[in-house]
Order: sequence, then C-alpha cells, then structure tokens
Amino acid sequence: MSETTAKLTLGDETYEFPVLSGTVGPDVIDIRSLYAKSGLFTYDPGFTSTAACDSAITYIDGDKGELLYRGYPIEQLAAKSSYIEVCYLLLYGELPSKAELADFENRVTRHTMVHEQMHYFYRGFRRDAHPMAIVTGVVGAMAAFYHDSTDISDPMQREIASIRMVAKLPTIAAMAYKYSVGQPFVYPRNDLDYASNFLHMCFAVPAEEYKVDPVVAKAMDRIFTLHADHEQNASTSTVRLSGSSDANPFACIAAGVACLWGPAHGGANEAALNMLREIGTVDRIPEFIERAKDKNDPFRLMGFGHRVYKNYDPRAAVMQESAREVLELLGVENNPTLQVAQELEKIALEDPYFVERKLYPNVDFYSGIILDAIGFPTSMFTAIFALSRTVGWIAQWKEMIGDPQKKIGRPRQLYHGATTRDYVDIAQR
Ligand code: SDX
Repeated sequence: MSETTAKLTLGDETYEFPVLSGTVGPDVIDIRSLYAKSGLFTYDPGFTSTAACDSAITYIDGDKGELLYRGYPIEQLAAKSSYIEVCYLLLYGELPSKAELADFENRVTRHTMVHEQMHYFYRGFRRDAHPMAIVTGVVGAMAAFYHDSTDISDPMQREIASIRMVAKLPTIAAMAYKYSVGQPFVYPRNDLDYASNFLHMCFAVPAEEYKVDPVVAKAMDRIFTLHADHEQNASTSTVRLSGSSDANPFACIAAGVACLWGPAHGGANEAALNMLREIGTVDRIPEFIERAKDKNDPFRLMGFGHRVYKNYDPRAAVMQESAREVLELLGVENNPTLQVAQELEKIALEDPYFVERKLYPNVDFYSGIILDAIGFPTSMFTAIFALSRTVGWIAQWKEMIGDPQKKIGRPRQLYHGATTRDYVDIAQR
C-alpha cells in the first residue's frame, strides 16, 4: 500500500499520485492515471527512470554492486550452488530440498533431446551462419514441434514449456556449434550434469571418447549461473513485452534471444574478446582508451559500463577469478589476452573519463577469455549467454503471466512527424 503521494503541478492544476514501496530499492511513483487525469504522457526513452513491472525474482543495487537471485547474493550462489539449483531457485522462488532438486534435475534431464525433425531444420542454414542466427530461428521454431505446450492459459503447459526450454537450449546451442564446424550432432547424455552435458555435446566426436574435465565443467556451470537472470534488462523486457500479447512461450524466448544478440547487450562478450585481441599487447592500450573517449569515434570499450551498475559488476569479479583458475588449469596462465584485459581494466579505472562516468568492467569483460580458453569460437559466446539466460527469461515470463495486473504493453510517444495533410496525385508532385 502507498503511504505517501507525489504531487505534479502544471499551470494551475495539481495532480497527486501514490508512491509505492517494494521490500528494497527505490520507491516508485504510480503514474498509471497520469494520462487520464492530465492528458500528458511521461517521456523516458531507454527507460532510465521507469519501473515497468513488479517483480520478486532478481534485485540489483547498482551503487553497491550487489546482485541477488531471490535474495541470495550472486557471490554465494556462484561459490556454493549449481546452475540447476539456481534454475530451481529462479523458477520456484526457494532453494530446493535434496529430493526437490533431484526431481527437478531428473525432469530437466529427460527433456534434453530435441525432436529428430529439428536435425533437418538445421540443414537449411548455411554452414557459416552465426550460431545466434541459428539459435534465434530454432527456438522460435520450437512452437512448430511442441504444440502441446503453447497454450499459456494452461499452467501445466506453461510448466512443460519452461522445462523443455531450460533442458533443450544447451542441445540447440551445441547443435548450432557442431553444424558450424561440420561435425555430426552429439546427443545429450542422461548420466552427465547440465554443464558437462553441454561440453560433451559441443566437443565430443564419434571417433573417440570425450572426457569432460571437472574443473572446466565447474567453470562452465559457474558461467551459466552468473548469466542466469538480471532484472529488467533489454532482452528480459523484450520477453515480457512479447509475453504481454499472450504469444506462445517459445516465441517470447526467441524474441529475447534476438535482443540479446546486440553488441550493446549480450553480444558484448564476443565484441569484448575481439577488442582485446585487436589491442593485442599492453603497449597499445592507451591508443584504444583514447578512442573510447573520443566522441567522434564510435568505438567503445566492450565489456565496460552498465546502465545499472555504477560500481563493479559483481559477476565480473567472480568471472575474473574463474578466468585465472581455468587458465592456470589449462596451463595458459600467461594468456596475453588476460594480461591485456587486466591492464586495460587497471588503466581505465584510473582514468577520469571512466571514473567520472562510473564505467566498470561488466559481466562480458572476462567471460570471453574463459570461453576462448575452454575452446569455444567467439561466435558461440552469445549463444552460451542465451542458454544461460533462458531460465531467467522464463522465470520473468511466468511471473508476468501470473500477474493479476497483466496488461498488454503498449507505450506511447512524443510525436514530431507531419500533421494532417491531403494526398497529392503523382501528376501534381
Ligand atoms: C549486458 O542491462 C543489463 O542488465 C544487461 C546485462 C545483463 O545481464 O542482462 O548486464 C548484460 O548487456 C552488459 C553490458 C554489455 N555491453 C557492453 O559492454 C557494451 C559497451 N557498454 C556500453 O555500450 C554502455 O555502457 C551500455 C550500453 C552497457 C550502457 O549504456 P547506457 O547506460 O545507456 O549509458 P550511455 O550509453 O548513456 O553512456 C553514458 C556515458 C556516455 O558518455 P557521455 O555522453 O556522458 O559523455 O558513458 C559513456 C557514453 O559515451 N560510455 C562509454 C562506455 N559505456 C558508456 N564510453 C566508452 N566505452 C564504454 N563502454
């Protein structure tokens, strides 16, 4: 309930709006009645000051650099939990008991195969198609294969569609990778955990047995956890807006995948590693720092900055630690890319341009270094982000569908176009 109100005075009219509070974080001014009362819209391109929904899933404090999944700090979950347990937490709101976790993991495991016809769907793509182009297409096509879980009004179908997508996204992403390298698809295996199964589907070949390195699997699992959800980011907002029209869940998640692909968002992990490679050596860092500061140069430090974090992205800190561990295990601790990344971070965080704008490394700055060391091409990085984020998108989509206040999202605009004018025949133009 709102305790206080906000007053807006326009000319000789004053309008009052309730101020609502959550459990933590900024209060909001409930302006839903603004247009009806005043005939005015608010104006907030990019939604820098707009809360678009109620949610109880993920909380971010950008000033503190704090990230909570259902109240649990990301650092604790990365250190003590597993991705499959984090999936349960995000979807159902509480940490599972041992029995609940075993049941959930079994349900996911039993849905990891895709419809065999999908193999032919892949064959329609060029071999050099970007994996994200394939994943976007295939996830949307899931509605053509799983008609029995597209009715969003049926809670059972919503649950089955959710489990199917959490289970099948790694298979779909791994198939996109296999297709791009001309190797046969590798079926999922029910005796492997989630991360190991993904690594096996990506790197196993029929010619010999592939043993998953447990340290690499743990690093992979941690990367999944760090990317699982992140409040109302661009792709999650895309999923919510798509879901507000009652579109089927596969179409909504495919919309999220498409949005995530952008280099300003999930595509930044691929762009960040490409940038670090372009810099190449520590002595070239100043040149790129200057370019990032030059308003006439579109170049930005990829993997740096964030709309919400005005402090260090807590995921980047965990990711950096994980990068060191994996590189040490793989015997590439003197990885030149990691050295450039750490030196770039150090120099940038001492430069007034970045300090004044509170630009810190984000989740995408170090993740590519680990994925590259594990053996993934840069083109797979965002597909891995997408499979990790699928559970977050689904949790947010389920929350929206179940929200009694659910309405179709339909923003308005500040119109600067032509006013009414009559059609002119082409003979007179
Ligand atoms: C993700 O929202 C989420 O939660 C996303 C995400 C998730 O988990 O879902 O966290 C994942 O998308 C992380 C962000 C990945 N993107 C990048 O690393 C791309 C590079 N970063 C930027 O493009 C930018 O920082 C954004 C897009 C991330 C945030 O942009 P904002 O909040 O709209 O900020 P802005 O563009 O208005 O920048 C503010 C100022 C500007 O300078 P001034 O006009 O004030 O002089 O900071 C500058 C910008 O030019 N700036 C940068 C910069 N990022 C911002 N300058 C150089 N390099 C950068 N990376």
